[in-house]
Amino acid sequence: MKHEPIKRIKGTQDILPDEARLWQWMEQQAREVFAQWHYGEIRVPVIEYTKLFARGVGEETDIVSKEMFSFERSNRSLSLRPEGTAGVVRSYIEQGLVNAPKPLKLWYQGPMFRYERPQEGRQRQFHQLGVEVFGQDTAYIDAEVIALSARLFEKLGILGDVSLTVNNVGNPEHRPAFREALKQRLHPVLEELCEDCQRRYTTNPLRMLDCKVPTCQAHYNSEEITDFLTHYDWGDATTTAYRQTLELLSGMGLTFKTDPKLVRGLDYYSRTVFEWSTDKLGAQSAVCGGGRYNALVEQLGGAPTPAVGWAIGLERLLKLVTSPQTSPLDAYVVSFPETYSAAFKLANQLREAGLSVEQDSSGKAFGKQLQAANKRGASYALIVGVDEWANGEVTLKNLSTGEQKQYKPEEVNTLLFKE
Ligand code: HAM
Repeated sequence: MKHEPIKRIKGTQDILPDEARLWQWMEQQAREVFAQWHYGEIRVPVIEYTKLFARGVGEETDIVSKEMFSFERSNRSLSLRPEGTAGVVRSYIEQGLVNAPKPLKLWYQGPMFRYERPQEGRQRQFHQLGVEVFGQDTAYIDAEVIALSARLFEKLGILGDVSLTVNNVGNPEHRPAFREALKQRLHPVLEELCEDCQRRYTTNPLRMLDCKVPTCQAHYNSEEITDFLTHYDWGDATTTAYRQTLELLSGMGLTFKTDPKLVRGLDYYSRTVFEWSTDKLGAQSAVCGGGRYNALVEQLGGAPTPAVGWAIGLERLLKLVTSPQTSPLDAYVVSFPETYSAAFKLANQLREAGLSVEQDSSGKAFGKQLQAANKRGASYALIVGVDEWANGEVTLKNLSTGEQKQYKPEEVNTLLFKE
């Protein structure tokens, strides 16, 4: 009986070795930047109680209301994390990190799950790299986390491909008044808006502003709405800190624009929010998003703690990165049944000495083994031939020049290291 092959779930991806090398390289760059900026890594579960995200990200957000992978176990609703911030905040509270010296600077990386309609750049399982900084509410910290993202893009060679947009969304306590004022202004055109926006009008009016439907956009871009958004008064303290953040960004030579319609898809933000986007990836243009979230720790049961952070979508980031790192293979050991054991030992000795080595024990002819060595991009073929081995020698062939010479096996690793 022939069995049907089982396919991967729609919206998920396999990352094969060639691509995984690019991931590893990118992760390495990120680790180096985080080490320099002194951010510590945190690893939290990919599964949490659903209520964490409902309370953290917001019941009315698209993420929680439509996109969670949730299921019941022992009468409790669990969810695969749709984002990283809520879990990190949960851990911050549960692990007593409130007692750690402040500001506490953390980074994380891993898979996130959102049941969205899959398309280019939008998956159901995707990966984020993120930072969260707890315990200090200053424009300097806001500017630092934004500068950190810029530094990472710079190190990856893509700073020129992404652009930064910043906005002030005020404090959560000021948001109800803002929502009401926005609704009042949009009320006359409510009937002309798309179904989603009509729903959002009651559930989450801010989200109307980033609707992609052109007729809705026309209304939100009208002079009246633009004027209202641009000049909305969020109060002195918020506005001063936001302005100072912008000044710090300019002072660092970072180019950015402000956009009063940038609202973000999660409810926890206060004051400064930002997004990095690109015009190189089609519709899914957001590469990184983040902002300050001063009320979330308290909302999730901790002591009031200001915080700020961002997350980068790694699949999108990787599409911009063009630094394919080939993995170096120092030596490809060509061997034959009579010399398999000797070659096996030699290969391991070379690995222990720090070289990257592969042994061919396929039983294929000499020429085919050499072809395989070339195909893998090996620098050398180390030929453990039957007669040579009997004479206590091996042949080292430089695969780029074609030169070859015989050596004692114990000479090989010093020779390879010299090259
Ligand atoms: P977010 O804007 O929802 O923010 O996601 C951050 C990034 O994740 C997006 O800019 C995008 O690159 C990527 N992303 C989101 N959904 C998908 C998807 N379905 N497929 C591929 N990539 C996707 C957050 O998640 C916040 N937790 C960021 C944050 C951290 N704010 C404060 N701290």
